[in-house]
Order: sequence, then C-alpha cells, then structure tokens
Amino acid sequence: MRVAVVGATGAVGSTILRVMEERTFAADEVVPFASERSAGRTIEHSGSSLSVQALSEEAIQGFDLALFSAGSGISEEWAPRFASAGTTVVDNSSFWRMKEDVPLVVAEVNPEALEGHRGIVANPNCSTMQMVVALKPILDRAGIERLVISTYQSVSGTGQQAVEELRDQAHAILHGQNPPPASVYPHQIAFNVVPQVEAFREGDDHTTEERKMMAETRKILGREDIGISATCVRVPVYVGHSESVNVQTREPLSAEECRDLLAGAPGVVVLDAPGDGIYPLAIDAAGRDDVLVGRIRRDPSHERCLNLWVVGDNLRKGAATNAVQVAELLSLRGLMAPARAA
Ligand SMILES: NC(=O)c1ccc[n+]([C@@H]2O[C@H](COP(=O)([O-])OP(=O)(O)OC[C@H]3O[C@@H](n4cnc5c(N)ncnc54)[C@H](OP(=O)(O)O)[C@@H]3O)[C@@H](O)[C@H]2O)c1
Repeated sequence: MRVAVVGATGAVGSTILRVMEERTFAADEVVPFASERSAGRTIEHSGSSLSVQALSEEAIQGFDLALFSAGSGISEEWAPRFASAGTTVVDNSSFWRMKEDVPLVVAEVNPEALEGHRGIVANPNCSTMQMVVALKPILDRAGIERLVISTYQSVSGTGQQAVEELRDQAHAILHGQNPPPASVYPHQIAFNVVPQVEAFREGDDHTTEERKMMAETRKILGREDIGISATCVRVPVYVGHSESVNVQTREPLSAEECRDLLAGAPGVVVLDAPGDGIYPLAIDAAGRDDVLVGRIRRDPSHERCLNLWVVGDNLRKGAATNAVQVAELLSLRGLMAPARAA
C-alpha cells in the first residue's frame, strides 16, 4: 500500500507517522507532504529518511491512502484531487465533516458508517472524538437526552505554533521578562484560562469549536434529538484535553452501573478512586491512545443526570490514532477500492 501523509511536519501529521510506526501499519511506501517551505526536508520514519514533498498534480498520483492534517483549505482543495486519482482520503480537518455524503467516523463508535463512503472519510474534532468514545456505551444502555459540556483544551489542539507560543510566554514570565504578545490566541495563554476556542462567527454567541462539538456529536451518534450545550475553554496545557460532561439519560443509570459499563467499553479506561487522588489527568493521558474517564457521580440536582470527567490525548485518539484506526478498518473491510472515488 502507498500512503501519503499530508501535513506530515505538523503536530498531528508527525503523530500520525509515529502511530503508524507503533501499530506497524502495513504500508509499502509512505510519502510525507507539507508546504513548499518544508519541501526537501527529511523525516525519519521506520528506519528510513523520507523526503518531504510539496503538493502537485503529478506528486499525488498512485496512492491507495492519504491521511490529511494540513488544515481546512488544503483539505478542501486537495482531498477531492486525491480521491479523483483513486486514493481513499481520511481527513482531520473540519472541512468535510458535516457534508452529507462524507462519513464522520470514530473507530469504536460508528465504524459501520464507513460503508458506502465516496473517497473521503472525515475524522471528528478532537474534543468531540474523546467524548463520544465515553458516551456511546451510555447511549446504547440508557439513551441520552441532553449533554452539558465544559472543555479544558490544550494548546497542541491548535497546532505547533500554539505550543511554541505557550512555551515562549511561560519562559519569558518565569525569567522576569515581559511575555511576547499573543499571536496565535486572542489573549496571553501562559498562566491564563481563555474562554474562547477558535472563532466567533458574526452574529453567533458560540464559537466554531462549540458549534462543531454540538453538530459532530449528533452526527456520529446518529441522534439529532440530543440537546447539547458546550462551552470550550483553552488552558495552558501542552497535550491532553479535559472535559466535564453532564449526561442526562433517558432511562435511569446509576453511577455504579455507568462505571461498570465504561470499564468494559472499547478504548476507555476508568480511573475513578477520587478519595485516593485517582482520576484522569491530562499529563497521564498524553502519549496514550485510551480515553480516560473518572469522577463518575450522580448529579444531585437531577435523578437521571451523571457527571463525568473525560480526558484524552488530542493529538493521538483526538486525531492521529483514530485516523490510523479508520485506515486499518478501511483496509480490513476491503473499502479502499479506487472504484469508490468521488
Ligand atoms: N492539533 C490537534 O489536536 C488536532 C486534532 C484534530 C484535528 N486537527 C486538525 O488537523 C489539521 C492540522 O492540525 P495541526 O495541529 O497538526 O497543525 P500544524 O501543527 O500547524 O500543522 C499543519 C501542517 O499542515 C502543513 N501545511 C500548511 N500549509 C500547507 C500547504 N500549502 N500544503 C501542504 N501542507 C501544508 C504544514 O506544513 P509546514 O510545516 O510546511 O508549514 C504542517 O505540516 C487541522 O485541520 C486541525 O484542525 C488538529
């Protein structure tokens, strides 16, 4: 199998290469793509030095699979070109996620949505991804009426430049200097908490990230009737998104039943002994593929509401790992045929 990794020099792309190596993904050849700025740079992968290519019509021919993480604009333009050339695309950007004929797939939650794809498969937003892995078993057992979500999202969710912005500001402040002005974020992120993840569209009092969480969750779970309220917040953490999720079920579900259910769920690890200081932490989730869930408890204000604390590595399960899992499923199920090109 020939695999293109588009955005290979970025936060997600470099993690995709690492995850492919760890899972010994069956690729005969891997070609990293990035912008013109990186063309010619070499990347070490599985014991070989790979030369980074810029995107061009000639360079994109002959691939079975393309894993995209180079932003929405690149995905809008280049994913259909790869698909037309007979390549199956798994895209991490937001551009294709809500298109009706594009499946939005989380490996543990809705793999059946891959059937009938038309050349492009979308990977959800990172904060949505980790949450639905924890919600799916609850949905299947007790139904879900409403979700109230608050996120605490790490800077790597914005990409490599945001990681550098946090590092540079924190370094300056810790050395008694004025921090460099914010450029990636609207405000200083070091030693701060910013209640804005992504942008406010004109006339909308929710951010684009909050809108994505609401819309993508309903699409993946296949339930348009779930009420969802989301507040997305950026915190000065390098890797790992944390989420407080209040779940109102349709049928009664005790905290104990929920804990047992999640302990047996694929992709979930329950860490829930709060009296002993055991609960999910971003620093423990970083570098892991599992979604960590803890602080599972009854919401005292409602008999059918539970509170959960859900933590995941946004670069791994939130993006790269799921993309590679989806590629494995496509291959396993014989769904990578060029005949499916859009
Ligand atoms: N970070 C996360 O946790 C996360 C999670 C889920 C989804 N995503 C999505 O994944 C995508 C990438 O995010 P990221 O965090 O990895 O960003 P990033 O660190 O900024 O990386 C962006 C990548 O895109 C490449 N690129 C930029 N312009 C290009 C062009 N004209 N042609 C080809 N490649 C180009 C960059 O190459 P150069 O190095 O040459 O500039 C780099 O490899 C975004 O759509 C994001 O929404 C991110």
